[in-house]
Amino acid sequence: MKYIGVFDSGFGGLTILRGIKKKMPYYNYIYLGDNARAPYGSRSPDLVFEFTRQAVDFLFKNKCEIVILACNTASSEALRKIQQEYLPQNYPDKKVLGVLIPASEEAVVKTINKRIGVIATEGTVKSRAFVREIKKLEPEAKVFQVACPLLVPLVEAGKQNSKLADLMLGDYLKPLLKKRIDVLILGCTHYGLLEKKIRQIIGPKIKIISEAPVVADKLKDYLKRHKDIEEKIGRDGKIIFYSTDLSDKFQKLGSKFFGQKIKNYIAHL
Ligand code: DGL
Repeated sequence: MKYIGVFDSGFGGLTILRGIKKKMPYYNYIYLGDNARAPYGSRSPDLVFEFTRQAVDFLFKNKCEIVILACNTASSEALRKIQQEYLPQNYPDKKVLGVLIPASEEAVVKTINKRIGVIATEGTVKSRAFVREIKKLEPEAKVFQVACPLLVPLVEAGKQNSKLADLMLGDYLKPLLKKRIDVLILGCTHYGLLEKKIRQIIGPKIKIISEAPVVADKLKDYLKRHKDIEEKIGRDGKIIFYSTDLSDKFQKLGSKFFGQKIKNYIAHL
């Protein structure tokens, strides 16, 4: 039986897998975090592509039928090339999906004034992939992006409820508030863990798009429409965790991101 593969640069994708598992606990999943080479957020697009390609290869060789790039940076900088070049040449029958299109679709549905804010890593912002996807869906939309390179280390240090978090978020979000956005996309795996703080800062009116529930809903719908894939996926509710770094950190921090205790195997990409 086959698995659904979920890939991220490190821990963050565990928040996405958590959301997916909540809606579809019955499937079998393999999670891969490239912790040895994370973070991807400020790396060059070529390197992000190469690392992501290796991860996709690993997941397909380990019985995945479909792979979700839960990482926004990988979705922004590698997904298109993987779908258009790598899969047709190497895995013509397999599918790789990302997190950007689901989040963009949801934002376009939710916005009224067509002014959408995005916070993400430097790599995601520079790629302009969110701008491209949102404008494809709603050409009149205005997209305002802010790169927030300090938020991933903040969350990984467990400081999401600190004064420091208030200061950083206040600084990053201020320019977006001035742009009168009515929807804010949390365009990075880690930012869902900051949602409460973000809500305090932006007030009750702006709608927040947090990726985990949105990606889970879209995947459920996708599998409903692609029975050929869905029928191959095992239904034992099993999850296997891999990381490229076999340290205590993955199990400790990963368990926090995932919401329950996890144990991982080492992956050699
Ligand atoms: N997973 C990454 C993302 O969603 C954040 C962590 C990193 O920079 O690798 O963009």
